Amino acid sequence: MKFFIDTANLKQIQEAQHLGVLDGVTTNPSLMAKEGITGRDSILKHYQNICEIVEGDVSAEVIGTQFEDMIKEGEELAKLHPQIVVKIPMIKDGVKAIKYFTDKGIKTNCTLVFSSGQALLAAKAGATYVSPFIGRLDDVSTDGLSLIQEIRQIYDNFNFKTEILAASVRHTMHVVNCAKIGADVMTGPLSSIEGLLKHPLTDNGLQKFLEDAQSLGI
Ligand code: G3P
Repeated sequence: MKFFIDTANLKQIQEAQHLGVLDGVTTNPSLMAKEGITGRDSILKHYQNICEIVEGDVSAEVIGTQFEDMIKEGEELAKLHPQIVVKIPMIKDGVKAIKYFTDKGIKTNCTLVFSSGQALLAAKAGATYVSPFIGRLDDVSTDGLSLIQEIRQIYDNFNFKTEILAASVRHTMHVVNCAKIGADVMTGPLSSIEGLLKHPLTDNGLQKFLEDAQSLGI
């Protein structure tokens, strides 16, 4: 399973990159706003900065909701860097835009996916990634992981090439369960990746090894 980090914070992206397990980055307008980035030029520059830190795909979201606007913005984003993936919302014009970019060989990430029907449409349009938001489904008492399972079954039935990118991952158990049920990618905060490190028996065991090593006089 690929690990993407879901942030526009350069320091956190660097930290995940230095851990050596990072495969890409996802951003969205809310994450960009959180970094206080304003103005078209600064936003475009920020995407370039992210691409310089990581080696994998970097999702950059269009703001427009009309087909023509999404095409204009998406083409501008795609030209920025070869690692850019154009992130497009799951709306009617978005599906058309995904098909347009697929035909042009430009990678896409279909975002704001909350049902298997939407995921089926995204795959039919040729999306590179589909992003079901599992944390936001859990927030409204609906099992986000079940959605990943359903999409996995549908994509496997027809050998769709679209990768399932489990998004809105909030914690380590989301990551582990996504791996168990076969999500191709997960995107989450740095804490969801670093949390995988933690186990009290590892800490206790290491402490004992270090104490015993001291008695060896080395
Ligand atoms: O990748 C989508 C993500 O940014 C949404 O996460 O935690 O705002 O639901 P969250």
